Amino acid sequence: MEKYIINGGNRLYGGVNIQTAKNSVLPILAASVLTDKKVRILNIPQITDVKNMVKILGCLGCKTAYNGNDIVIDSSSASCCEIPGTLAHELRSSIFLLGPVIARFRRAKIAYPGGCDIGLRPVDLHLNGLKRLGVKITEQNGYILCSCEKLAGNEIMLDCPSVGATENIMLAAVKAQGTTVIKNAAREPEIEDLQKFLNCIGGRISGAGSGTITVEGVKDLGGCNYLPIADRIEAGTFLIAAAMCGGEIEAKGIYAENISSLLHKLRENGCKISVKNDKINICSKSRLTSVKSIETQPYPGFPTDLQAQMTALCCICNGNSIITENLFETRFKYVPELRKMGADITVAGRSAFVRGIEKFKGASVVSCDLRGGAALVISALAAEGKSEVIDLSHIDRGYGQFEYKLRSLGADITRAAI
Ligand code: UD1
Repeated sequence: MEKYIINGGNRLYGGVNIQTAKNSVLPILAASVLTDKKVRILNIPQITDVKNMVKILGCLGCKTAYNGNDIVIDSSSASCCEIPGTLAHELRSSIFLLGPVIARFRRAKIAYPGGCDIGLRPVDLHLNGLKRLGVKITEQNGYILCSCEKLAGNEIMLDCPSVGATENIMLAAVKAQGTTVIKNAAREPEIEDLQKFLNCIGGRISGAGSGTITVEGVKDLGGCNYLPIADRIEAGTFLIAAAMCGGEIEAKGIYAENISSLLHKLRENGCKISVKNDKINICSKSRLTSVKSIETQPYPGFPTDLQAQMTALCCICNGNSIITENLFETRFKYVPELRKMGADITVAGRSAFVRGIEKFKGASVVSCDLRGGAALVISALAAEGKSEVIDLSHIDRGYGQFEYKLRSLGADITRAAI
């Protein structure tokens, strides 16, 4: 196991390049199974979720080769349609393979997925959507078994705008016979990116980014080179870190329109934010003022993946805040750890009630999920004195070269074995 040792109190200054988005790269990697032509994904992030997805592709018989920061996937040799439990449990996004594997082989067997323990995270909407396309699904000993004679387009109405279900249905429908219309679809930028990628390899999809997506099935798909969009959650984490530590940083490669809900709140806090093309500059000079309330919502609302980091910021603002988590049930697991640093937070139901304190104090804390872990790191950077953040396995799932990037901005952070 590993930990970060952090000496807090340094202000952050400089520029930081934002990685390509974890939540774009994962479904795009899954989509590469749909074609027997080579696909090159550019600038993929060095995170364990991606490494695990690449391992699963290998398991299915796809050939993968890294070329610098790019990866080339050749799925012409894919022959297996089973994803074993050991791998599926490591990575919730393994569920994205269901759509492409069925589209390619007409059957699939996948263990129930893992990922962050942030609530129930059912997959019923994925399965119901695939059923509407003609897939027969049974469940057996923790495995989902799927088969179909053919995939046929249909109208699918999602009960809630699930990101994963929207993507999985797109991934199957792209090779179905006829037209699929997904209603109440999720509108996240990563879904638009998946549409762009699928259209690049010959798909015929429109509407992503709105609540209705239309997929006209095609017979064959080709290859392409593709650069996914930047990671708005990584960018948001760095911007919040700068707000908490003070200083001035520039996040490079990220378009402000993709995180406008965060920028809006940071301005309300008193940060100065300026935007030029794909660069966002944040300047935070003195103690910030609390925002009254933040509620996580599907895009374009405030992202649940920035809830923990934003709660950490609220802890050291002047005033009180209420943060409400509407998407996942157990996404306040980092709160007891923040309390060890002096945070004054009470959780009741879906809301955290925060009373601002002057400063965090360094402490030894344990990271128990990806975004909660990131919130602990940036809190430690803003704290007085020395902290340890223990267990980096969750953080490594989503933040590539986290400590290098933070050090280049002036943070005192080192990785050590325990
Ligand atoms: C994706 C993101 C994750 C983000 C989340 C919400 C990826 C790889 N992960 O996760 O980082 O936190 O969107 O923005 O893109 N639900 C059901 N049944 C289902 C599916 C979902 O009830 O079959 C519910 C969930 O419990 C949750 C809500 O729908 O309450 C949203 O989940 P969803 O959008 O599906 O999240 P993920 O795709 O898992």
